[in-house]
Amino acid sequence: MRLSRRMAVAAVAFGTLMATVACTSTDEPGTGTGAKDVEVFTWWADGGEKAGLDGLVAVFGTDCKDFKFVNGAVAGGAGSNAKQVLASRLQQGTPPDTFQAHAGAELSDYINDDQVEDLSAQYGEWGLTNAFPKGLIDNLTVAGKIYSVPANIHRANVLWGNKTVLAKAGITKDATTLDGFFADLDKLKAAGVATPLALGKDWTQQMLFEALLISKLGPEKFNALWNGTGDWTGTDLTAAINDYKKLLTYTNKDRDTFDWTDAEKMLMDGKAAYQLMGDWEAADLDAKGFKDYSYSVFPGNGNVFQWLADSFVLPKGAKNPDGTKCWLKTVGSAAGQAEFNKKKGSIPARTDVPADGFPAYQQAAMNDWKTATQVPSCPHGSACAQTWQGAVGSAQGKFSTDGDVAALQAALASAAAEFGPKAK
Ligand code: BGC
Repeated sequence: MRLSRRMAVAAVAFGTLMATVACTSTDEPGTGTGAKDVEVFTWWADGGEKAGLDGLVAVFGTDCKDFKFVNGAVAGGAGSNAKQVLASRLQQGTPPDTFQAHAGAELSDYINDDQVEDLSAQYGEWGLTNAFPKGLIDNLTVAGKIYSVPANIHRANVLWGNKTVLAKAGITKDATTLDGFFADLDKLKAAGVATPLALGKDWTQQMLFEALLISKLGPEKFNALWNGTGDWTGTDLTAAINDYKKLLTYTNKDRDTFDWTDAEKMLMDGKAAYQLMGDWEAADLDAKGFKDYSYSVFPGNGNVFQWLADSFVLPKGAKNPDGTKCWLKTVGSAAGQAEFNKKKGSIPARTDVPADGFPAYQQAAMNDWKTATQVPSCPHGSACAQTWQGAVGSAQGKFSTDGDVAALQAALASAAAEFGPKAK
């Protein structure tokens, strides 16, 4: 059921998408036809994301001299375009040699649909079995087999600020509670900042809502929403949606047309004070030469680390499995993880990569990761399957226009009932 629905959506979307989406990679998807070519499919096309990919490609160039990297990137934050193109290629039996997939429920989609190969033997051969934290390995494993190699750990619940804009409104320290945050957003409005909180479309709205849910419900109840034991119909959820509605009043009205980088630009240009975004923003701001930024965990999230992990797979039917294996070995290596993560804003998934040489943000994140309470993210695949993510995204997109609290809650509850663990 899940397979056919996902494929049907992909098939409809693909034609339109190919006509409208400009691929910013140096090579069009699917052009990796030479025997040595390894087509690596990601959505890391620009800024810090491209810089991270370039770091990995440099190590691949040294370690895998027999093979040639072919860039199959399709631009669009969080894979908003790439995932549709990928689904269509998988359906047509023309997979790239490897693709980026989030650890957790999203990866399970590909495993359950029999689209990726078992890599358990490579884990033994390359000494990866003990290189990653056990919890992460669990998220990559189905029925005792491991299907992908993680490149990193990202944190989703980070609040980025423009220090100059904040200082002008008298804010020198980020709030640590939701009430304090609302008070600061009011201060910013009073100081003439038209958009205290920059926001983008669908998945970025899901991120903001989730950060707020973590503050309102706490990590246990937040986790319960995704693992099938929570209640989407309760009054605590209603109260959270009302707060989210209030939060939207501080954001830009054209949010539904913005990718995360457009919202980020508002912050860089001093048109907005804050943006909630994953820590790929650290790398992207650095890559764009913007230094005047602050960061803190979203107000009220305390020591919760909302995690997600990019991993790479060997698709069934890949043209160059040997080349893919060399890519995957590079991704899993300490050198590959160091070069990639220094530039990507994330931290190594391996536990043995020294923190020296990492930017200050990642050093802080590495420390937090060791002691924090972990929760997953739906828009970044660690909490929910793509079908569920799509249903939440549509519900929030509608809410962004009509602000109907009861309708959003009802849509979220029915999405959980249809696509969540209880439905399996
Ligand atoms: C990915 C990150 C990426 C971000 C924005 C997330 O889903 O895991 O690697 O930087 O989307 O595109």
